[in-house]
Amino acid sequence: MRSRPVVTIDGPSGAGKTTVSKRLADAAGFVRIDTGAMYRAVALAARRAGISWDDADHLGRVARELSCSFPTVAGTPRVVLSGEDVTEAIRTPEMSMGASAVSAHGPVREALVAKQREMGREGGVVLEGRDTGTVVFPDAEVKFFLDAVAAVRARRRYLEISPPASQPYEEILRDVLRRDVQDSTRENSPLRVAHDAAYIDTTTLTVDEVVAEMLRRVPGVPR
Ligand code: DC
Repeated sequence: MRSRPVVTIDGPSGAGKTTVSKRLADAAGFVRIDTGAMYRAVALAARRAGISWDDADHLGRVARELSCSFPTVAGTPRVVLSGEDVTEAIRTPEMSMGASAVSAHGPVREALVAKQREMGREGGVVLEGRDTGTVVFPDAEVKFFLDAVAAVRARRRYLEISPPASQPYEEILRDVLRRDVQDSTRENSPLRVAHDAAYIDTTTLTVDEVVAEMLRRVPGVPR
């Protein structure tokens, strides 16, 4: 029995997981674990080592040896890979597709899921990803699935990117739809709603409304 809960937030790209998981973790005093950043880091490390995103065995080794941390610097969460700050490097459109590709391989998932379980073992954590409530912590105390229509998710991504016009909206929408298909039809841990997750459609909700709805469900957290 954990003294503090494990909170999981799953859902497709652009559903709002990153924004609300930060807010939720801050409000609750929990550690936030961005599992997508770990798949992105594997894609980046593989690219640098000249390993193909199709090479399951070698990718598995990259994932097992991954040395990744998530420090907060000046109030902003950063991603550090083997001592190098890769926060921006893993957010490119290329690494988004790379993360989606490497995350389909069993050996990669096994290695990263083991690390995520270890990181969240004691509770007091918010995990965000695709399988955190279904595979990583099926026994999590609080589970959410965030969703929104694809056009709205693509629009959010478009507005996030700086400068905003650096990738056309149509291209972002195409990538979002492609990743939706890739992430939800793969054989290993496809994106799906856990039977005991609270499903929240964020299409027409503000961030404050989503966070308020979620905080209502996390025990012991002042609102
Ligand atoms: O959340 P994100 O966009 O940073 O995730 C990048 C990719 O990693 C996403 O396309 C699917 C994959 N992923 C996954 O398979 N399982 C997770 N728990 C998190 C991300």
